Amino acid sequence: MGLSLLTVCYLIGSVTFIIGLKMLSHPETARRGNLLAAAGMTIAIFGTIFLYEEEGVRLGNYPWIFGGLILGTVIGLLAAKKVKMTAMPEMVSLFNGMGGACAALISVIEFGHLAHLINAGNLTDIHKGTLLTIFLGLIIGAVSFAGSMIAWGKLNGRIRDFAFKGQQVFNLFLLAAILTGAGYLLMTLNGSNYALFYVLAAASLVYGVLFVLPIGGADMPVVISLLNSFTGVAAACGGFLYDNQVMLTGGILVGAAGTLLTILMCKAMNRSLTNVLIGSFGGSTSGTAVKGDAGGVYKEISIADAAVCMAYAHKVIIVPGYGLAVAQAQHVCHELEKMLEDKGVEVTYAIHPVAGRMPGHMNVLLAEADVSYDKLQEMEQANDQFRNTDVVLILGANDVVNPAAKTDPASPIYGMPILEVEQAKTVIVNKRSMKPGYAGIENALFFQPKTSMLFGDAKAALQQLVSEIKSL
Ligand code: TAP
Repeated sequence: MGLSLLTVCYLIGSVTFIIGLKMLSHPETARRGNLLAAAGMTIAIFGTIFLYEEEGVRLGNYPWIFGGLILGTVIGLLAAKKVKMTAMPEMVSLFNGMGGACAALISVIEFGHLAHLINAGNLTDIHKGTLLTIFLGLIIGAVSFAGSMIAWGKLNGRIRDFAFKGQQVFNLFLLAAILTGAGYLLMTLNGSNYALFYVLAAASLVYGVLFVLPIGGADMPVVISLLNSFTGVAAACGGFLYDNQVMLTGGILVGAAGTLLTILMCKAMNRSLTNVLIGSFGGSTSGTAVKGDAGGVYKEISIADAAVCMAYAHKVIIVPGYGLAVAQAQHVCHELEKMLEDKGVEVTYAIHPVAGRMPGHMNVLLAEADVSYDKLQEMEQANDQFRNTDVVLILGANDVVNPAAKTDPASPIYGMPILEVEQAKTVIVNKRSMKPGYAGIENALFFQPKTSMLFGDAKAALQQLVSEIKSL
């Protein structure tokens, strides 16, 4: 009875994961989807704690289990409440690393459970199958843990990009050595080479560090998504080990979703995964990048003129970018939108798929400020609208509106789909200086005759715009 009820718990968990994931694909349903999947996970966890039994014996060990649960819940809740939107990739990386570590630790513990058989030389083919899963969980989980920790350090500026000559080749050798070592151990494992398992674990951790260290700091969201898929696969290995359906479903969903997200991000930036992994593009030391103030004439616009320009327009499209998130200007941006609408102006937002520093960054940011979802236009939709638009207001966006992506084959962003804002009658660009964005390249848009620069922090500039429009 207990077991069948547990199976129902796992079924509920698996179904809520799938439905929750589907709901995450739309901003309107994303929050509920997240809660639904979390509820399913809670049922699965408590089902396991209270209903799982082996040979008639329940888990027990409750003080440790609940101690860990309470500690993890408190830390997770506080971290999630306190985190700033721009630091979200950082937190995802940290949490993902914990998932990888759990998967690796499961492997270590399950390996220990086979110790008596290994020492007695009594491994059957079935045990070897289990060992294979243990090795996979160990290697993938350890790589994901170590890589995620480095990604976390890079995103918060504690760890700098680092590469030594021939590192990519060394990394390939190390990976080959780990896989060969695992294969060898699988064939020959006995009491005398038992300790090699831990060498494998240490080598996997080193590989995780060396794999992520040379990758440019700004490419971390793509790397995190990839590591996220690794963690999913490692968790799925745990599902195989314990014959636990919900762990298997969850792991496979995370693995598949992480892989798809990685591919989508690369596509939206028009870069291959190889280029992200070994290209060192947009590193935290973007010293080699072309500087923004390389000459060229641009014109500035005053707050008063920008306010008049927008207040008397028929149609305004706002293009949010990373700078809006940095300035935390989403609320005042929404205020500007409402104020313009009160004056009869049609206002929408154009959202580029990789605007900001993580997938859906702008959608989440604007949702936080209660901007209505039906005002958000995806890139293709917005590109059809720009030619009928009076004013485009760009707020802390740069690469996603850079025409070089269409016109300059030598540009590192050539081929990246962009928002074709230059088709609008007037373009107002708000940023603090002429410095480049993530890609570290000049933006010809800023020097076009129809473009005016509105310098300043996005929040301050928007606050001034709002009070100026109020007085019109
Ligand atoms: P960016 O090209 O990085 O440009 C952001 C601009 O915001 C900068 O030029 C900066 O100029 C300005 N800015 C910074 N702080 C500001 C503030 N407080 N007030 C006003 N402006 C401020 O951003 P984007 O256009 O959103 O493009 C995103 C880039 O990130 C793309 O290249 C994309 O490929 C990359 N990327 C995205 C993702 C995902 S999944 N979204 C993942 C990895 C990489 P100033 O310094 O002059 O102010």
